[in-house]
Formats: sequence, structure tokens, C-alpha cells
Amino acid sequence: MVFAIKVNGTTHTVDVDGDTPLLWVLRDVLGMTGTKFGCGMALCGACTVHLDGVAIRSCITFVESVGDSAITTIEAIGATAVGAKIQKAWLDREVVQCGYCQSGQIMSASALLASNAHPTDSDIDAAMSGNICRCGTYLRIREAIKQAAQSNG
Ligand code: FES
Ligand code: FES
Repeated sequence: MVFAIKVNGTTHTVDVDGDTPLLWVLRDVLGMTGTKFGCGMALCGACTVHLDGVAIRSCITFVESVGDSAITTIEAIGATAVGAKIQKAWLDREVVQCGYCQSGQIMSASALLASNAHPTDSDIDAAMSGNICRCGTYLRIREAIKQAAQSNG
């Protein structure tokens, strides 16, 4: 079946089964491999993208459910004001270790900061709790989110 989905401001026509996870449409059909596969069961957060600005797990989101919503992926988050702040803070704090989880971490962090300019520690923990990092970069992630929030003034 043919679906028209809006990814990073561009409408793409894809011919896939309706129950194809958005993750595989992004990666295998559109070639946007920045969004990662970890668990496929909404348990790790590696596949996080934004749907109308809200962080969602693309591994359990069927393409037929996306409709006209605007999808944003790691490839374009740096073009948003919040995403640019988050990515700068990530670099300043040298957050990344192996990097595998980090697309999802950045997408969750930027969705948090877009909806809450000055999150508390518990806000950060709540927003980021579904994003697993096997390298244990959690402390640097929290510091980077705080740095990005400070630049919100
Ligand atoms: S791959 Fe989607 S949450 Fe793990
Ligand atoms: S940086 Fe390696 S899994 Fe998070």
C-alpha cells in the first residue's frame, strides 16, 4: 500500500505494508540510518523520533498510523533551535561513548526541552528513563540537558 509521510519537512511516498514499523521505513526505504534499532519492543529508546514534536518509539509505530503528522529524525533535529542547543551541549560535555543509543537520547532530550525550557532533575529522569545506554553515559546526558536549558535564559 502507498503512504505519503512527511519526514523532516519533505513528503515521501512509500509502498509498504501498513503494519511496517516506521523505523524500517526510515532506515530501509528512505535510507535514513541515523535512527537505530535496539530492541524492537519499545524498551530501549534507540529508535526515538518525533511525531509532531513528541518523542515516540518508531519500532512500534506502524506506518499506517502516522497520517499527516510531521516526523522529525536525528538527521534534521540540529536544524531546530532546541536541537542545535542539545547537540552543542552534547559535544561540549563529550556525552557520547560508543554512540549507539545517542540518536534516541538526543531526540528524547530535545523533545523534553521543547516542552519544558527548564526541566528539574526529576523531569529529566522521567523524560529520559526509557532511553537505555549500555555505556552508562547518563550523568553526562543530564549535565548536557542542564547546559542546554541554561542557554534558554
Ligand atoms: S528499538 Fe525501539 S525502543 Fe528499542
Ligand atoms: S553511548 Fe554506548 S550505548 Fe549509549
